[in-house]
Amino acid sequence: MTKTPKSKATPPDIATLTKAKAKVELMRLSLEMEAHNVAYYQKDAPKISDAEYDALRRRVEAIEAKFPELVTGSSPTLTVGAAPSRAFAKVQHAVPMLSLGNAFSDEEVAEFVERIQRFLRIDEVPAIVAEPKIDGLSLSLRYEHGELVRAATRGDGFTGEDVTANVRTIDDIPNRLKGKAIPAACELRGEVYMLKSDFLALNKRQEEAGEDPFANPRNSAAGSLRQKDVAITASRPLKFFAYAWGEMSDYPIDEPTQHGMLKWLDHAGFTVNPLITLCHGVEDALKFYRKIGEERASLGYDIDGVVYKVDRIDWQARLGFAGRAPRWAIAHKFAAEQATTVLEKIDIQVGRTGALTPVARLTPVTVGGVVVANATLHNEDYIKGVGNDGQPIRDGVDIREGDTVVIQRAGDVIPQVVSVVMEKRPKDAKPFAFPTKCPVCGSHAIRENGEVVTRCTGALICPAQAVERLKHFVSRLAFDIDGLGDKQIQEFYDDGLIMHPVDIFTLAKRDARAEKKLRDREGFGEVSVRNLFAAIDARRKIELNRLIFALGIRHIGEGNAKLLARHYGSFNAFRDAMLAAAAGQTAEGNSSEAWQDLNNIGGVGEIVADAVVEFFAEKRNVKALGELLDEIEVLDVEQAKSDTAIAGKTVVFTGSLTKFTRDEAKAAAERLSAKVAGSVSKKTDYVVAGEDAGSKLKKATELGVKVLTEDEWLALIEAT
Ligand code: IVH
Repeated sequence: MTKTPKSKATPPDIATLTKAKAKVELMRLSLEMEAHNVAYYQKDAPKISDAEYDALRRRVEAIEAKFPELVTGSSPTLTVGAAPSRAFAKVQHAVPMLSLGNAFSDEEVAEFVERIQRFLRIDEVPAIVAEPKIDGLSLSLRYEHGELVRAATRGDGFTGEDVTANVRTIDDIPNRLKGKAIPAACELRGEVYMLKSDFLALNKRQEEAGEDPFANPRNSAAGSLRQKDVAITASRPLKFFAYAWGEMSDYPIDEPTQHGMLKWLDHAGFTVNPLITLCHGVEDALKFYRKIGEERASLGYDIDGVVYKVDRIDWQARLGFAGRAPRWAIAHKFAAEQATTVLEKIDIQVGRTGALTPVARLTPVTVGGVVVANATLHNEDYIKGVGNDGQPIRDGVDIREGDTVVIQRAGDVIPQVVSVVMEKRPKDAKPFAFPTKCPVCGSHAIRENGEVVTRCTGALICPAQAVERLKHFVSRLAFDIDGLGDKQIQEFYDDGLIMHPVDIFTLAKRDARAEKKLRDREGFGEVSVRNLFAAIDARRKIELNRLIFALGIRHIGEGNAKLLARHYGSFNAFRDAMLAAAAGQTAEGNSSEAWQDLNNIGGVGEIVADAVVEFFAEKRNVKALGELLDEIEVLDVEQAKSDTAIAGKTVVFTGSLTKFTRDEAKAAAERLSAKVAGSVSKKTDYVVAGEDAGSKLKKATELGVKVLTEDEWLALIEAT
């Protein structure tokens, strides 16, 4: 990942810059902007707000204005976006997709219009089309004889990415243009975006699926469009507004104007933004800007300004381009939606997987028409003024309870604290002490080396994590209890019937005593309850590796659980060793023999060792484990036999197995010191083929690998 260079010192004052210093400063700024371009355009993960990015560009422009001789062809003011990424085919735009210059004040808009009048040598004020500036990503659609043939992202403005297949899934984009007078070839352009409500719903789904959420609707639109798997794009609610064009073999209307072309785009089957207005005079245009500014929060989609365009196309053509932007259009940006308020308190929320997230509780304030009472503070470093890349943010200023802070909703739905008003910091404000204990369950909370997230270690006891832990506990590679899936766990948890793992095994006992029986619950009956209790009883004897995996200790997946189980052999040996290692923990490190022994297991690194020992260092985890052990029996590990006929051999199971499950087959093979692989290669010794075996069986035959039926396999392992 590209590191974003950031200056730690205050940047030099432009007025006092010498030429040599200006050159260095320009170089630094262009590196910084390039890194932000990559983050924004290629990774869909901007690190700074648009306003901060604009400030960087304005600084470059100011320095270049003072030292025009320092302007080079690679100046960031002449480039747009970032070069396309390599995952998609490249598309050359017939007419480049350039960017827009910015105006930040009414005066700058008036100057824009005056410039046009001077350039065209006209006295009349040209008619201007004012359009909302949609905060999405721009797209160019090539139609030949009315058929959509190619769709491309902007990329660096000259070469974009081919996203034709993805774009065909967007309802707002016609595959065939409607109406008459359709040009033989045309490139129609506009913005792909996502509604704020759709973005929030998508993020909820992402989080439920354990995926990273998107930062804002723009990023989620970009991320959804640029999918290698078109089915994913199709499942995302993308929308499109048409507002521009590139190559046009002929104009479809006489005496073409911007507003006339928008009307044509609408007739051709596109959606054109309904707020677009034809304005006469600067005042008219500014009125539109203010009106849209007021409606901004309630529009349903993000906009970051207004675009003014000269209406007459022949004038647009005469005006042409200067550098990277047209002379006939300009973006009038909205100031980032900011407000100042008091940060009353920092609360810590504990997520379902144990992550501690600080949240700022604010004196409620309206920002761009929305009441904001909370802002995210991300993690411990963020509060201290350090970004994820270790570089200072907010000039390294920390955030304290009682501080007056500036918050911002810049397109982002989740408000951020952008700065602290230091003059208003209360004298007695203390640096925030990030908790070392989980605020929900009181277990110690730790931050692993190199991680930014602090996590609760109370895997078995923390109510904030309980449901996820229980789901994990009964999952296929853990206790694997038939009839007790995610849905049932959630229901039993909600009703207070299963709060801890041990409750699963006391369920039948408690049900016998209870007045309201399980069999009377909706969706249950006599038979299903009996089956459920039988399935639970069947799991009272459990392999050690499954138990270790079921505990849900961080970094302990199926493989590490097996390593630990094989090494310690029995539950008691494992628990005693972990307790000894936990007791050996000191601030200086851990010199206990048990700790050394744990670290010496091949494949177990320090991070894994730490996580297991942290679990056992929490007494209540140990207690909960003890209660569970009263209800179940943990089987000792059968030591793998090394002198077997299949020791060291590689086996692949394929097809549907009828005599044993895949997991059983794997366990049996491993007990006899064979290796189980997922795919067939020259190194495979045996392929055990069940019914309907397909490509793996074919490959085995081609490679001359020995193929066994299930019975032949059983005979082979029984003989050893
Ligand atoms: S016109 C030659 N109109 O803003 C300029 N752009 O900062 C063609 N955008 O790349 C662009 N809404 O992604 C135009 N109504 C609108 C727009 C708009 C959003 C975006 C577009 C463009 C960027 C420039």
